[in-house]
Amino acid sequence: MVAYGGDEVNALVFDMGSTMTRAGYAGEDTPRVMFPTSFGYIDTEEEVAAQPTEQTNGEDIIMSEASDQPESTQPASQQPEQPQQQTTTKITRKYYIGDNKINTFKSNMQVKSPLKNGLVEDWDAMEHIWSATFDKMLRIEPRNHPLLCTEVAWNTPANRQKTMQLAFEKFDFPAFYLAPDAVMTAFSVGRATALVLDSGGGITSAVPVYDGFVLKKGILHQPLAGDGIIEKIKKQLQVDLNYTVTPHYRIAKKKLVEKDQPPEIEFRQLEGITDTFNNYQINRVLNEFKETICQVSDTAFEEETLSSRSKKTFEFPDGFNHSFGLERFKLPELLFQPDVYDDVDSNKSGEKEEHEDQKDKEKEADKDESMQDVQEKTNKLVGVHDMVYNSINNCDIDLRPLLFNNVVVTGGNTLFKGFNERLNNELPLKAPGSKIKIHAAGNTTERKCSGWLGGSILASLGTFHQLWISRKEYEEFGESIIHRRC
Ligand SMILES: Nc1ncnc2c1ncn2[C@@H]1O[C@H](COP(=O)(O)OP(=O)(O)OP(=O)(O)O)[C@@H](O)[C@H]1O
Ligand SMILES: [Mg+2]
Repeated sequence: MVAYGGDEVNALVFDMGSTMTRAGYAGEDTPRVMFPTSFGYIDTEEEVAAQPTEQTNGEDIIMSEASDQPESTQPASQQPEQPQQQTTTKITRKYYIGDNKINTFKSNMQVKSPLKNGLVEDWDAMEHIWSATFDKMLRIEPRNHPLLCTEVAWNTPANRQKTMQLAFEKFDFPAFYLAPDAVMTAFSVGRATALVLDSGGGITSAVPVYDGFVLKKGILHQPLAGDGIIEKIKKQLQVDLNYTVTPHYRIAKKKLVEKDQPPEIEFRQLEGITDTFNNYQINRVLNEFKETICQVSDTAFEEETLSSRSKKTFEFPDGFNHSFGLERFKLPELLFQPDVYDDVDSNKSGEKEEHEDQKDKEKEADKDESMQDVQEKTNKLVGVHDMVYNSINNCDIDLRPLLFNNVVVTGGNTLFKGFNERLNNELPLKAPGSKIKIHAAGNTTERKCSGWLGGSILASLGTFHQLWISRKEYEEFGESIIHRRC
């Protein structure tokens, strides 16, 4: 329980990752709700009389956009005196948020993420996701609860301000706090100093935390995590087995088939399938494949040794089934040797361009010349052990032993069997003579929710009440208060 404003009020904790969003009450062990961060939407267009201003109404309607006005074909001298009826195209967007809604087929529904590279990019969607979380899932009144949000360590000043604005102006929270997820992860395992290696759905990051603060020059992040592996799986299935995944929702009937035989299915008759929804559903199957079949080689990757390890069979939704051997290890090897596959390298370059754009924006906002910039300039993705090593090496020499001794591993993508063992084998090779200790929560939920959990612990501390930014302070000092207080 948090004492805030004289009343005993439960603070809320909100943690959004590129794959999953987690929200619940401070002081509890697990989030009350966890749901996909991606959302579904259907846009409908209608021609309406032009309005001088943008209009917003109704919970699912977000915006109207000006249309391309047809040019007049009449010469100016022949223009009629009556003004022409101006029309504009109004786009009404309906949102579908939460596991059930996003995973149920709807004609013309697109699927999108509100984040790019861990940063909020679509603020309209963000507002709808907050509404869905607080009003529909948690069913709370924002004005009765302080809100703690987690952020990535490389969040931009503009994004930080916008998040606070959303909390105070659109949602009427009485108090707000923003905390880096790496610091929250360190807190979740009882540490104020740690090197936090977090590999989730979209991003892998190495963030040094000292005495509860992020050491900015050591921050490293790259867009290679769980999603990168499933892209690789998708390509490999095509190349090796000439197989393309058919997701569950497309299948009306299927027959049992023998191992490696082509699937025999009847498709559901569906209209308005979008690529984004279809890909999202394919990726769900591939995630399941990845989580049940793949494993990281706990020692250095050697094809000969690994080929003799046991095979595992996976049955896809259409009935196609195959036994996977070496591939089980080869696919997640990407995390330790990102350059091991050429075709993934070429896919990577597109991501890197976007990544560069983002970095340019960040650099404008924050002139810190960090290791991240150096890594970006060399334009290279590196293994997770290299990330840990590079990140620590970019910190003050006095702090390095402390960080090597407190490597905290988190994120769903580190749950592969063998991941910690491999890291434990690789790191000493990079830093011989350093005392290295790796800590990873044994509990799966804790590993996926460590950022949320740290926030839950922090916001429930009796001493934390002085740290909240109150509405009154926000009104008095303006948006810049976020940079002084959090
Ligand atoms: N048991 C498992 N084995 C391997 N991978 C897993 C396992 N469980 C979950 N994952 C993967 O973890 C990823 C999601 O992790 P997490 O919830 O930490 O990500 P996130 O915080 O939403 O994203 P990010 O940190 O990248 O912004 C997904 O790619 C998922 O497939
Ligand atoms: Mg995460």
